[in-house]
Amino acid sequence: MKSKEWLLVSRPVGEPVAADFELREVDVREPGPGEVVVRNEWMSVDPGMRGRMRGVRTYIAPFELGEPMEAGATGTVVASNADSVPVGATVQHVLGWREYAVLPADQVRIVPETLDDPSDILSAVGLTGYTAYLALAEIAPVKPGSVVFVSGAAGAVGTTAAGIARQLGAATVIGSAGGPEKCRILVEELGYDHAIDYRAGTLKQDLAAAAPDGIDIYLDNVGGEHLQVAIGAMRPHGRIALCGAVSQYNAVEPQPGPNNLAAAVGKRLGLQGFIVYDHLAGYDDYFTKASGWVRDGLLANRKTVVDGIENATGAFIGQLRGDNVGKMLVRISAPA
Ligand SMILES: NC(=O)c1ccc[n+]([C@@H]2O[C@H](COP(=O)([O-])OP(=O)(O)OC[C@H]3O[C@@H](n4cnc5c(N)ncnc54)[C@H](OP(=O)(O)O)[C@@H]3O)[C@@H](O)[C@H]2O)c1
Repeated sequence: MKSKEWLLVSRPVGEPVAADFELREVDVREPGPGEVVVRNEWMSVDPGMRGRMRGVRTYIAPFELGEPMEAGATGTVVASNADSVPVGATVQHVLGWREYAVLPADQVRIVPETLDDPSDILSAVGLTGYTAYLALAEIAPVKPGSVVFVSGAAGAVGTTAAGIARQLGAATVIGSAGGPEKCRILVEELGYDHAIDYRAGTLKQDLAAAAPDGIDIYLDNVGGEHLQVAIGAMRPHGRIALCGAVSQYNAVEPQPGPNNLAAAVGKRLGLQGFIVYDHLAGYDDYFTKASGWVRDGLLANRKTVVDGIENATGAFIGQLRGDNVGKMLVRISAPA
């Protein structure tokens, strides 16, 4: 069997370009003892992968040059040398960016049969939605009556955040995204009370108009100007969950921090970064809860799907530019 796989061949400077990646075809090796072969069907592209292309270890190892990259993926087991994971099982693992993955059975997780669509495990009921839940339930806890602001609101984490904030008792949920069409979707389809088109260049004024008495909670997916404006709008004792800083991921020089950080002292603000992988013990509970919310129409499960392994790097680059609404996924092959 042959498998196409994407390698990182040069470290991007600024926005990644096609020449930073190479698609090669390899023979799929036989599984060793305790290993399985998975025919990948779905893979996730995440902004966090941009950091792994820099070649510096952060909370996770960088991608090596000349090696296939990693990504969350689901697929069907087509060969197995492990009793625990039989042929035909639908599994989740981290060896995306390739058509077939060969890996130890203890590094795959069987996708719960309760899911009609296995790709859901990469979106709202998976670690994507769990990231928003952690931010709003634990890191910057929403309380009944909270006014919540979410940046990157039309993205994977952001599209789940409104429903989660509402379940946690938020009174008002405000989202920011790029462009009027995304803002329409935020309000009409995703449960946001107000939407701000940050590309209009009036973020500070628009947030003040949406939350005239200030905000209690800010879920920061974007960093940069958004973080500065949010600090300015926070009410005393507010909490900020530092989830990501996608506005800076392609920057070639270090970016300035917020110029009003000192306001956090007088307002007694809490700003806390977090990484979802540190909280995996709570994931199964989230899965159960979130599955019910999705079923009851209380939690959005939006996806943007790009077809074909050949188009995977384009999906990744496009996501950093804002091509997606909801979770950006690549359909590598049709489910068996
Ligand atoms: N801490 C954790 O454990 C954890 C886990 C998962 C994700 N994250 C982080 O959470 C954030 C969102 O991730 P995601 O998977 O949900 O990605 P995403 O929001 O689906 O995709 C990225 C989005 O960023 C927006 N964007 C791009 N450049 C921007 C800019 N200059 N200013 C404002 N927005 C910009 C684009 O939307 P627009 O069209 O609206 O610009 C784009 O759709 C990222 O920072 C990611 O690294 C953190």
